[in-house]
Amino acid sequence: MAVMKIYIRTFGCQMNEADTEIVKAVLKSHNFEFVEEVEAADVVLLNTCSVRENANRKVFGYIHEIKRINKTALMGVLGCMASDLKNNLIQDPKLKIDFIAGPDSYKKLPQIIEQVMEKDEKYGHFDLSEFETYEDIYPLRKQGVNAWVAIMRGCNNFCSYCIVPYTRGRERSRSLQSVVREIEQLVADGYKQITLLGQNVNSYKYEDYNFVDLLKAVSDIKGLKRIRFVSPHPKDFSLDLIKLMAKRENICNAIHLPLQAGSTQVLKRMNRTYTKQEYLELVNKIKKIIPEIVINTDIIVGFCGETEEDFEDTLEVVKKVEFDSAYIFKYSVRSGTFAAKKYVDDVSEEVKTRRIVKLNAIQKRISLKKHKEQIGSIEEVLIERKGTKKSKTDWQGRDEGNRLVIFSDGNYNIGELVKVKIEEATANVVKGEGCEDIF
Ligand code: SAH
Ligand code: SF4
Ligand code: F3S
Repeated sequence: MAVMKIYIRTFGCQMNEADTEIVKAVLKSHNFEFVEEVEAADVVLLNTCSVRENANRKVFGYIHEIKRINKTALMGVLGCMASDLKNNLIQDPKLKIDFIAGPDSYKKLPQIIEQVMEKDEKYGHFDLSEFETYEDIYPLRKQGVNAWVAIMRGCNNFCSYCIVPYTRGRERSRSLQSVVREIEQLVADGYKQITLLGQNVNSYKYEDYNFVDLLKAVSDIKGLKRIRFVSPHPKDFSLDLIKLMAKRENICNAIHLPLQAGSTQVLKRMNRTYTKQEYLELVNKIKKIIPEIVINTDIIVGFCGETEEDFEDTLEVVKKVEFDSAYIFKYSVRSGTFAAKKYVDDVSEEVKTRRIVKLNAIQKRISLKKHKEQIGSIEEVLIERKGTKKSKTDWQGRDEGNRLVIFSDGNYNIGELVKVKIEEATANVVKGEGCEDIF
């Protein structure tokens, strides 16, 4: 068979980005090639997300667009929509999807594609596995400064609003040794930053090793400059973890700590397993041990039964914690979840909009305030790219807190760690000037 050309596009979270790199490694070892344009492809793969209704809409819109650009390519849907919608996807005549493969089916992709080509039949594989971690596959990554390393997959938390436990199945962790080996190789390949990934990254458990043991082992790897991890669940954020972060230089003092809601009643209905008070206490504990910590979050507004008072609780937590930034979403019903079955989506679209606008405005003020506090400080920045929207010569990177830093012209290289003096701030970015000569 002639070499098949694959075009692949990724939607959704970093886990999907990391999975796409696994898919590429699997396909490359079976002699597939990758192309950058849809027009040139024999097979179009979409690695999809179904976390909210508009994530689905985005993918459907894109499928129609692709059909206009390339009428002959085979179309395959991977990822969370495949396990959520299953055969409904291939049976929908309007979509013209040829095959689907869920998040645990990627090793079968070469055979699936060949079978669909040869037999001219549609095919779906979306069974979830309790064991698949892909630890034996070395992902095919883009050259860059950051490498994603998935250490566990799946989710056992069943937050009542969330589709992820259904699309990605049960939690399972890779062996500690396989994670360390992969990261040693990445450091040898020149990666400066590693981001450990998992739907619940800190519930990592392999034999007797927990997340803190793993993080310690990763932090010991020589030459590794920066370690991050996403997303931890507040319930598993142990004191040992905070202490390790404080002690180890190469573990970044930045945490993405999803709040979801500030009201204890809403949190209970969401099955988040912590109260408003417990979340605030955790944050206080973290801030006490690591005063320079940068905390980001995810929040859902308008969950079933959320009253004005409940929403005020969210505002209160946001103001008390002073997150550096927050991703804020309107609640979107996901069919099959506990909330879809048991609760009523009774907050009107209008009220959801009002709440998201208000919360975004408050968060923007806090982000700006926090960023302005940076002015005058010198931050270590890992350079990610040259050129910004406004200037071809400016550099762009991230400081330890994962804040976006733009700084002016200088003789640097991508992947270098440089000192930058912060001089300006907006809610989304801080700006400054490189200042190596100060040291
Ligand atoms: N595993 C991660 C991320 C899950 S999905 C975690 O637990 O943090 C990313 C975010 O999408 C969630 O944190 C949540 O804020 C949001 N989200 C999930 N389901 C949603 C839904 N049904 N409606 C709106 N937002 C949702
Ligand atoms: Fe979804 Fe909750 Fe699991 Fe995160 S922890 S993936 S929000 S069920
Ligand atoms: Fe979306 Fe699946 Fe990630 S639903 S957010 S791609 S785990």
